[in-house]
Amino acid sequence: MTTHHTTHQAGHPTAHHAGPGPGHHCGHRTEDLDWAAIGDQLERSARVRTPFLEGAADWLAATADGEVRRVLDVGSGPGVASLVLARRFPRAGVVAVDAAPGLLARAAGLAAGEGLAGRVTTHRADLPDGLEPLGAADLIWAGQVVHHLGDQTAALAAIGRSLRPGGLLAVVEGGLGPRFLPRDIGMGRPGLQARLEAGMENVFAAMRAGLPGSVAVTEDWPALFTAAGLTPAGSRTFLVDAPAPLDDLGRGYAYDRLNRAREGLADVLPADDLEVLDRLLDEESEAGVRKRADVFCLEALTVHVGRRV
Ligand SMILES: C[S@@+](CC[C@H](N)C(=O)[O-])C[C@H]1O[C@@H](n2cnc3c(N)ncnc32)[C@H](O)[C@@H]1O
Repeated sequence: MTTHHTTHQAGHPTAHHAGPGPGHHCGHRTEDLDWAAIGDQLERSARVRTPFLEGAADWLAATADGEVRRVLDVGSGPGVASLVLARRFPRAGVVAVDAAPGLLARAAGLAAGEGLAGRVTTHRADLPDGLEPLGAADLIWAGQVVHHLGDQTAALAAIGRSLRPGGLLAVVEGGLGPRFLPRDIGMGRPGLQARLEAGMENVFAAMRAGLPGSVAVTEDWPALFTAAGLTPAGSRTFLVDAPAPLDDLGRGYAYDRLNRAREGLADVLPADDLEVLDRLLDEESEAGVRKRADVFCLEALTVHVGRRV
């Protein structure tokens, strides 16, 4: 059997690398994770979610008041969303903002590769600070980064201050985590993914509790916008719906997510579930997610929008 969670994640801070609960999608610890080290994974997940990014960008274009000339993609990671936004708003300059220089370098490389280097630039910042030099934006996209900040309300307020009056802040949070497998996969007890999701809720909660300055809030995003001085302007959910048989990119995403769950839940999952996960993560096995025929990707991502008055 090919080893997976050791070779694939070599050099990564394993205990901090657990995957998401159903609505969180991520579950990494922020303060001590080397985000750049998982650049490949971040790029794969963003690429698989391209239909979501494009649908959300269309909706934002229809929701925006006035011209969109300046866009910030905060917590951009490798910048896949920055590119989608640059294509959707062809008159806009887009700034990919992240704390990890390695990911900004990736974003710059992707932009250059698509001939967008003139319109997609990068800026290093430790959110929620560091946006001031960028000036007022018409649109700010925050994809699954706010939940990595200790005080989410204060973060929304700080990020919102970089909007021009009437500008939009789009926050990707919540939704439904990805499903890759049928309920019964012909080995082990049916319902493995539901059990993994339940386990990862605890990992996510521990991640949040461990953040510097962590503040527990009800995850009611429109209410959080209001508390942060923004006006809620709608929430919409977009699907990633890639049926079986999945391509290699989608299989890579499935592998990444199951591998993170394997690591995050190694100490709490029952032995039979761990054994099934190991088979799913066996790169050579016909029963593994790299090869089996029934792997799909179904995920729902919610975008909450707030407007600066
Ligand atoms: C879960 S990834 C999301 C990446 C991308 N937005 C997406 O949706 O695919 C979170 C990103 O936020 C960045 N990040 C986390 N905490 C940050 C902080 N305090 N300041 C700036 N960037 C941060 C990480 O480097 C990482 O690229």
